[in-house]
Amino acid sequence: MASSSSSSHYNLATLVLSLLLVGGYGQLDPTFYDVTCPNITSIVRGVIEDALQTDARIAASLIRLHFHDCFVQGCDGSLLLDSTDTIDSEKLAPPNSNSARGFDVVDRIKSELEAACPNIVSCADILAIASEQSVELSDGPSWSVPFGRRDSTTANRIAAGNLPSPFETLDQLQKKFSDLNLTSTDLVALSGGHTFGRSQCQFFTHRIYNFTGTADQDPSLNSTYANTLSQLCPQGGNGSVLANLDVSTPDTFDNNYFSNLLIGKGLLQSDQELFSTTGADTIPIVSNFSANQTLFFEAFVESMIKMGNLSPLTGTDGEIRLNCSRINADSYGSRGALVAEY
Ligand code: HEM
Ligand SMILES: *[C@@H]1O[C@H](CO)[C@@H](O)[C@H](O)[C@H]1NC(C)=O
Ligand SMILES: *[C@@H]1O[C@H](CO)[C@@H](O)[C@H](O)[C@H]1NC(C)=O
Ligand SMILES: *[C@@H]1O[C@H](CO)[C@@H](O)[C@H](O)[C@H]1NC(C)=O
Ligand SMILES: *[C@@H]1O[C@H](CO)[C@@H](O)[C@H](O)[C@H]1NC(C)=O
Ligand SMILES: *[C@@H]1O[C@H](CO)[C@@H](O)[C@H](O)[C@H]1NC(C)=O
Ligand SMILES: *[C@@H]1O[C@H](CO)[C@@H](O)[C@H](O)[C@H]1NC(C)=O
Ligand SMILES: *[C@@H]1O[C@H](CO)[C@@H](O)[C@H](O)[C@H]1NC(C)=O
Ligand SMILES: *[C@@H]1O[C@H](CO)[C@@H](O)[C@H](O)[C@H]1NC(C)=O
Repeated sequence: MASSSSSSHYNLATLVLSLLLVGGYGQLDPTFYDVTCPNITSIVRGVIEDALQTDARIAASLIRLHFHDCFVQGCDGSLLLDSTDTIDSEKLAPPNSNSARGFDVVDRIKSELEAACPNIVSCADILAIASEQSVELSDGPSWSVPFGRRDSTTANRIAAGNLPSPFETLDQLQKKFSDLNLTSTDLVALSGGHTFGRSQCQFFTHRIYNFTGTADQDPSLNSTYANTLSQLCPQGGNGSVLANLDVSTPDTFDNNYFSNLLIGKGLLQSDQELFSTTGADTIPIVSNFSANQTLFFEAFVESMIKMGNLSPLTGTDGEIRLNCSRINADSYGSRGALVAEY
């Protein structure tokens, strides 16, 4: 057939593209620690299981850390650094301050990994595997996590201040994702991360009380749901009170986040816009994921791997931090002596 040669070229091009962009892991590799830290997954799993005993929210908090790490100068552990003379901590940027949590659990994972395989596992990789285990332990999908990221010796508080905001329009969110080569499908799939965890009232009460500055309600907000939310978050009340991001199954990783959007029960403006923005290309994707959880899980895994591949440091770039909260130069003295145990 005349078309067969062009069609096999097309297939070859598609295969190469998929390997590069989708199926492939870039420079990262799921077997990276097979020899040097074979127990990495069970160690991370154990710490998270333990933390879940006293904090049902911790799985959600941990995956959010990976997102906030990867979107700011790549998946390099920069989010975890505390302020020093040379580090302007991302933890103090508005999207993270009094919001990002789980740093103590990351530290616990790090110290168990240092005991089992000293100087081997980066903090950036810890965030990636902690995300996968958190999803798996919450009844979501499991996947092989590509490894080999190294840790930054810098942080960028300004860039962290530019993380996606719950008050942004869909256009603005799509722009922030496409700047990182993430598509509308990635945006929708990754927003599915809001199938567990909590949000403070301050991030959505404008939708109940004063959406456009005329004491109006967001028309896309289900009014029954708005009533429930107004009890939890009275006007002028404590903006730090917590609401479940997924009103139907708050601690389970499933596709109910999307079914909620279909009935106006997305909690954040940025959630509901995915389904309620007239003509948006995200609408059929939300419908798809709400109709088929397997489809959502597959897309979520693919998008998580893509997000986890955002400009990692590899090879001899960066370092393997001894303590996730500080760069090694601040853990070691000038002649390489250990200053503190960590
Ligand atoms: C699309 C843009 C996004 C916006 C505007 C956004 C915004 C937010 C906001 C405002 C909160 C509540 C924070 C607080 O109350 O302190 C939150 C929580 C959360 N976000 Fe997102 N987010 C986005 C994308 C993502 C992505 C890509 C993931 C992961 C794949 C994610 C996972 C989570 C999780 C799990 C929580 C709950 C954390 C906890 O309970 O500690 N979000 N997000
Ligand atoms: C890995 O961890 C398991 C327990 O979780 C332990 O039984 C086993 O000895 C460990 N293996 C190595 C090589 O450390
Ligand atoms: C996005 O893709 C372009 C073209 O392949 C590449 O030059 C750029 O570095 C990518 N950006 C990120 C943040 O990965
Ligand atoms: C609603 O927002 C407008 C514009 O920001 C503001 O002037 C007004 O005081 C707000 N009303 C209430 C009740 O908060
Ligand atoms: C506001 O709510 C948070 C979370 O429930 C609580 O920790 C804090 O003490 C409250 N603040 C006030 C002033 O009531
Ligand atoms: C609002 O939620 C209720 C269930 O609580 C549902 O029956 C109704 O259809 C929803 N309204 C809209 C406009 O989706
Ligand atoms: C919906 O899912 C099907 C596969 O089941 C896919 O072919 C189609 O492109 C998807 N539509 C959108 C808008 O993502
Ligand atoms: C749901 O999606 C999966 C994965 O794409 C597919 O194999 C399956 O056929 C779909 N199920 C239905 C009922 O469409
Ligand atoms: C890790 O570094 C942080 C920041 O310097 C410090 O507060 C913490 O005590 C260190 N942890 C350990 C176990 O030394």
